[in-house]
Amino acid sequence: AKVVLAYSGGLDTSIIIPWLKENYGYDVIAMVADLGQGDDYDAVREKALKSGAAGVHVRDVKREFVEDYLFPLVRSGAVYEGKYLLGTSVARPLIAKCLVETAEAEGAEAVAHGATGKGNDQVRFEVSVMALNPDLKVVAPWREWDIRSRQEAMAYAAARGIPVPATKERPFSMDQNLWHLSHEGGVLEDPGNAPPEDLYLLTVPPERAPDRPTYVELEFERGVPKRLDGAAVDPVTLVERLNALGGANGVGIVDMVENRLVGMKSRGVYETPGGTILVAAHRELELLTLDRNTLHFKDTIAVRYAELVYDGLWFTPLREALDAFVTETQKPVTGRVRLKLYKGNCVPAGAWSPCSLYDQELSTFEEDEVYDQKDAAGFINLFGLPVRIQARVRRRNR
Ligand code: ARG
Ligand code: SIN
Repeated sequence: AKVVLAYSGGLDTSIIIPWLKENYGYDVIAMVADLGQGDDYDAVREKALKSGAAGVHVRDVKREFVEDYLFPLVRSGAVYEGKYLLGTSVARPLIAKCLVETAEAEGAEAVAHGATGKGNDQVRFEVSVMALNPDLKVVAPWREWDIRSRQEAMAYAAARGIPVPATKERPFSMDQNLWHLSHEGGVLEDPGNAPPEDLYLLTVPPERAPDRPTYVELEFERGVPKRLDGAAVDPVTLVERLNALGGANGVGIVDMVENRLVGMKSRGVYETPGGTILVAAHRELELLTLDRNTLHFKDTIAVRYAELVYDGLWFTPLREALDAFVTETQKPVTGRVRLKLYKGNCVPAGAWSPCSLYDQELSTFEEDEVYDQKDAAGFINLFGLPVRIQARVRRRNR
């Protein structure tokens, strides 16, 4: 029987290959999903085969990732616990989808992944697999084997002739794709430790960013980014260019302690340069084009959307329903936003929309014709009526 493994080329997923053969008797098909992590996929393929894989599938799903996962995330406004742009969380369902499709194409009875038993990723992979094919078995070696350290993993690999990385790997657990790069573990485990200077790989520390600002202009149609600095760009290129611009200006670093779904708090440092710019630009356009009730209601949905993505519930009716709502709200979110990037900051530098609800005539401090200030007195009387009544009752009962 066959199993399809979500394979990265790293030490952990490499030793899973012989482990699955030895402990389950499976033929192991390695599935590598290219979400823009920028690996050398020929080398990854080689490594899978050297580690004993019976076959390798490399799937380039960058465009699908951006169009069907990242752009909806941006439109939703989802930000987990006020900080995290969900770069790992939003990628897991797509990797799970690739696993299921490969398993079905290969006639495999199971899928496997290299997430640990203490994290969120195991939940995201497995719940997504369940949603797409409830009959597939899932194997999670980290929950079964007794390899507990990097040394043990290297010994296990060496004993089976698996190439062991010669260079000392970075002492962090990292996850990279087009949207972000995450760092967890090592010295970061103590929230008292600031991130070390050499941690960042996509972003320069703000103090080393250029002394002059960089301006970037984004155009959206119905909440979807379409043009960068006046030119139409495909979605993948758009994110790549924004990553370069944001990274060079120190934009998009998040350092936080977060609540994992499995109960514990963990500390993560995230680099999301392009995503930070996109989210900021989209927000500016919403502020210009959405009425107050819609905007505020949408903001409450965004919290729930973020939780749902974090929790691995992408392939669920609730996410689809929320997306339908979000899509409806995005009808007027068309226009152009200019942002200034400067030493870690990303601030508005102009916004224009044919659907703008901003009426300079109405909000001006100068004299105007449309708004009679005398109307405000009656409005405040009725708006404040319950407050006045309550205050009277309170005084009487004092
Ligand atoms: N804490 C983040 C999340 O749960 C990042 C997880 C990173 N995963 C990893 N395998 N390194 O989404
Ligand atoms: C892991 O435990 O495999 C990575 C971290 C996480 O899933 O939260």
